[in-house]
Amino acid sequence: MFSQLRRAAVVVATGVLLSGAALHGGAQAAPTTTDEAPSAQLATLREAASTSGKFIGTAVADHRLSDATYSGIAAREFSSVTAENVMKWESIQPQRGSFNWAGPDRLMQFAQANDQQVYGHTLVWHSQMPGWLANGNFGATEMNQIMNTHISTVMGRYQGQINRWDVVNEAFNEDGTLRNSKWLQVLGRDYIANAFRAARAADPDAKLFINDYNTDGINAKSTGLYNLVRDLRAQGVPIDGVGFQSHLILDQLPSDYQANLQRFADLGVEVVVTELDIRMQMPSDAAKLERQSQQFARVVQACLNVSRCSGVTVWGFSDRDSWVPGTFPGEGAALPYDDNYQPKPAYNGILTAFGGDPGGGDPGPGPGPGADCTAAYQVANRWNAGSVVDVRVTARQALNGWAVTFTLPAGESVTSHWNTQLTQSGTTVTARNVAHNATIPAGGTLNFGFQTNSGAVYSAPVVSLNGTACTAATG
Ligand code: G3I
Repeated sequence: MFSQLRRAAVVVATGVLLSGAALHGGAQAAPTTTDEAPSAQLATLREAASTSGKFIGTAVADHRLSDATYSGIAAREFSSVTAENVMKWESIQPQRGSFNWAGPDRLMQFAQANDQQVYGHTLVWHSQMPGWLANGNFGATEMNQIMNTHISTVMGRYQGQINRWDVVNEAFNEDGTLRNSKWLQVLGRDYIANAFRAARAADPDAKLFINDYNTDGINAKSTGLYNLVRDLRAQGVPIDGVGFQSHLILDQLPSDYQANLQRFADLGVEVVVTELDIRMQMPSDAAKLERQSQQFARVVQACLNVSRCSGVTVWGFSDRDSWVPGTFPGEGAALPYDDNYQPKPAYNGILTAFGGDPGGGDPGPGPGPGADCTAAYQVANRWNAGSVVDVRVTARQALNGWAVTFTLPAGESVTSHWNTQLTQSGTTVTARNVAHNATIPAGGTLNFGFQTNSGAVYSAPVVSLNGTACTAATG
């Protein structure tokens, strides 16, 4: 069905920031425009997300933008960007009345060059306050004026260019009461309504959000937030949306995640997944990465199922740049690309949930002739009712598209797979390339994995590449 869809033009333009962008984390120089690619498949996250009218966003780390691989992926895969740090108060108004626009301007330029929406983050927050604000002894009138000036100056500079703003961030305690921040202490609970009013006045076109963490399922904190949003709406306070940060832990995605989004949507507000990551205990392994992929997909599916959910933003895309290991020692691997900017199973989980095709993009001319290869077929993990297998095939000749075949014992079936499009017919398994690993240089190694429903012990099967049996790798 996707072949019926016209592939959207994706302009990968980063102005001075990006030359020879390496797409999909690969090392090859990329064209500056990919328009009307040979395949009509939905091969990038942003292409796939756009078919449902949702955005797929990423937080952008300003100091990484000058890296061509980083900016290439950010441009190609995402239709919305959020400043990870450079629009925070500490960064943007480090001294009273002195504004630092360099980082925010860079992000705006990047977004404009790549036809991306911008999610503004964040205006009124208890954290990352500059010293002058955190330590200043201000009365209510002055504090209110400081807040209004910051909102009007920052939003005013980008008026009409930022689609959504986190006006108030992390205002709640875990028990659903308001956090005892400096804002609450000096201004009382009206600081929230006043911040939204100031924001509407500063940029009437921006959608105004309140954003928080640990509000992803139905719990005391999210119910406190729900009650506040309901009351603000009833009072005519201009609040348009709620952001669910969704800093999740592997295997702990709340079962009522979608129901929670829906109850807020039923208040008439937009909902957005604003800072998604799914961390795990390190080291990661194939089974954890596969479960993580399924959980990323469930979050995306929840957004697809809630009509007022306008998109999903991941909090960075590569494990290399994630905030997680620095904050939670021993945990990591929370994002859809690995430390080397290679897509992980989670990438395909997000892509397929949006209706994309992991085998999309340029399929190349198909399997070539006469592969001369060695194959390592390794059972990485086995338990009573399942095995995880890692397959690596080293090809003598360069490949542009590949098909690897082998057999499984009768009764054993593949239940999930990654870095491949895989089909099984009887005992024969055929694993084909996906977009990001179609091209293998001479002497290079292709790699994919899968899980089966059996833990039976058996020896490695003969593995063929493009119809030619490979030599089993030794050692
Ligand atoms: O840039 C300065 C550098 O000049 C200085 O020398 C260095 C010394 O500490 O700090 C650098 O700033 C750091 C900044 O990240 C940029 O790398 C801060 O210390 C560090 O605290 C800051 O962490 C950020 C954190 O928010 C606090 O603002 C993380 O990158 C960012 O991912 C994280 O994002 C938050 C969201 O804004 C709100 N929701 C939770 C989420 C995760 O904590």
